[in-house]
Formats: sequence, C-alpha cells, structure tokens
Amino acid sequence: MRCCAGPGPRGGGALTTLLLTVYTILSKVHSDRNVYPSAGVLFVHVLEREYFKGEFPPYPKPGEISNDPITFNTNLMGYPDRPGWLRYIQRTPYSDGVLYGSPTVENVGKPTVIEITAYNRRTFETARHNLIINIMSAEDFPLPYQAEFFIRNMNVEEMLASEVLGDFLGAVKNVWQPERLNAINITSALDRGGRVPLPINDMKEGVYVMVGADVPFSSCLREVENPQNQLRCSQEMEPSITCDKKFRTQFHIDWCKISLVDNTKQVSTFQEVIRGEGILPDGGEYKPPSDTLKSRDYYSDFLITLAVPSAVALVLFLILAYIMCCRREGVIQLVHHSAIQKSTKELRDMSKNREIAWPLSTLPVFHPVTGEIVPPLHPDNYDNTSMPLMQTQQ
Ligand SMILES: *[C@@H]1O[C@H](CO)[C@@H](O)[C@H](O)[C@H]1NC(C)=O
Repeated sequence: MRCCAGPGPRGGGALTTLLLTVYTILSKVHSDRNVYPSAGVLFVHVLEREYFKGEFPPYPKPGEISNDPITFNTNLMGYPDRPGWLRYIQRTPYSDGVLYGSPTVENVGKPTVIEITAYNRRTFETARHNLIINIMSAEDFPLPYQAEFFIRNMNVEEMLASEVLGDFLGAVKNVWQPERLNAINITSALDRGGRVPLPINDMKEGVYVMVGADVPFSSCLREVENPQNQLRCSQEMEPSITCDKKFRTQFHIDWCKISLVDNTKQVSTFQEVIRGEGILPDGGEYKPPSDTLKSRDYYSDFLITLAVPSAVALVLFLILAYIMCCRREGVIQLVHHSAIQKSTKELRDMSKNREIAWPLSTLPVFHPVTGEIVPPLHPDNYDNTSMPLMQTQQ
C-alpha cells in the first residue's frame, strides 16, 4: 500500500478545499447577527430587501438592479413561531420586513435566536440568517410614567422607521420635558380591534405608541382630563389641547385615546408585598364547611327543569286533544255516513213491504215479445256467431 501514499495528501488537500468552500457557503447562508436590546424598551430590526437581494443566485452584478419580490419567514429557533413579544410586519414583497416589539424582563440573560428565512418569490431561492437577540436588563433606569398615544395618520411600519419615531419622540420630549424618554411599545390599531381603512384619501390604520419617561406627566398631557375636554370627547368632538400644534404638522394625535399610566404607585405596593416574611399566619386546622351544601334548595331548580316543561307539554296536549276530538272534520263525515246508512235501511224496509209486482225491467232477463222469463245465458247455448270474435282476433 506504499504506492497509494503519494496521492493521499493531494486528495486530502482537495477535500479540505472542498470542505472550506462548503463551509464558506454555509457560513454565508447561516451568517449570524447579534443585537442587544434592553428589556422594556422598543426593539426594531429591519430586514432589508437590498441586503437579501445579494444572497440569491444568480447574484446581481454591481450596478445591476434586481427587483425580485422577497418575503421573509421569522421564527424562534426550534419553534414554529416567534416569541410572544416579538412581532413582524412586511406590507408587500417589495418593501422591507420589520421585526419589532418590547422585550420582557423574563427573557433577560438567555439569548433568543430568531431564524430568518428570505424567499425570492421569482426564483424560489431561499437564504437563511440567524438573529441573536441578547436582551439586557434595564432596571438601572426605570421609566415609571408611561403614556400611550394613538396616532391616526400612520401605519405601524411607517412609525417604525427610525426617523419618524425620532421625530415623534422629539415632539413628546418638547411637551413633556423629561430627562429620559424611551419608546416602549408600538401596536397597530388593527391589533386592538381597528379596521383596515377604505383605500380613499390615503387613510391609515393608525398606530398606538407607548412612551415612558422619568418625570410626571406635563400639564399639557393632562389637559384632556379636564371636564370640558371630557365632554367634547364624549360627544366625539376633538378636545382642545394647547400642545397639539407641536405634533400637528406630522402626527394627528387622537387625544381622547391617550392613556397615562403612573407606575410609581404600583411599584410601592409591589415592594410592600415583598417585605413580608413569606410565611402565612397559622390559621389553625382547616374546617371544611359541613352542611352548607345539604341545605341547598332544589325547589326552584325542580320548577325550572321539570315543572315548567311539563306544564308546557300539558297545555300542548290539551290543545291537541281539543283539535283532534272537537274540531275534526272526520266527525262530520261520520255523522253523514251514519245518516246515509239510516236512510238506506229505511228505504230497503219500505221496499220490502211493497204489494205490487216487480217491474219487468228490474228482472234480470225477459223475452221482448212474449214477456217470458228466459233463464240466464249459459256458455253452452250462447250464440257465438253474432258476437265479435274477440278471442280469434289476436
Ligand atoms: C406591547 O404591545 C403588545 C400588543 O398590544 C402587547 O401584547 C404587549 O404586552 C406590549 N408589551 C408591553 C411591554 O407593554
């Protein structure tokens, strides 16, 4: 086997090269990406079509514009769907896909791996990427004052664009003046029972944006709570909010739908619960309630389940019986029938008592000239020549 030692390393080299190529392709297909969002702060990740276009063979040459429709599928690795906090939207195969959501504190620490599969809808090529979401804890800067705005003239994916969201947060900062302000969550109005608008006047679905800040709500944000504005809201009129003009150029806020949540009070009660010893006071032996169950009164149950249906059935039975016995057409027919029978019998009796002889025409057969009664014809003396030969005519 000495002979074969020579080519060995060369074959191994080719194999290594092949494996390296395969690995390069695989790592291109399975390229991972790490992101580090904070819990309780809005996370937005755009799946850019431009980036994924370069993944599909035939690879577009530089300067070449390919405009293939591309859609994405996103799921938690090993599961069919995304984690509950992460949502995904792509309006058309010609627009970018967006992953967004508000990571929850429970997921802090362990990385969340999202598999992203891009489909080229023209060539049916696919490309796979992993997005590794490492959720960071955000306890060091709590934002206990949370306000949720409803923006009427935006769709969720328009609002997710960083510059639009930045403009909105800038406007909120302007009217609230907090030290720190963060977007917490974004929800399409469609997820809250909203409707898809008619395709007229460029109407939008609307979007809810929740922001959190570290200082109490400004007087302007509270303006909607005054009685005048509450009245206008109940009459479906626009409330007059002085700081609305800070938003108006770009965002149409529905001030009646603003919700202001102050979590500082909830946090204090939460801490009180924690300060307990964790042991329940000894309440002695457990005594089950003894005969409270026995004294339960079934009388009304009985009435409802048995007596009422029986009463209804009885009433129906009586109505039916009345119809069958007293209102039946058959009864009249029976009366007719017995009356006819009675008359016939009377006639018969009367005819039996008659003295005169039977009219000849009522007798079976008689001779027209002599008047002699001829006995009924028998097949023997039947004159068959005068009769049509029915039987021979077949
Ligand atoms: C964000 O909004 C979604 C949809 O309304 C909701 O299910 C989720 O609980 C919200 N997350 C937070 C942290 O408020």
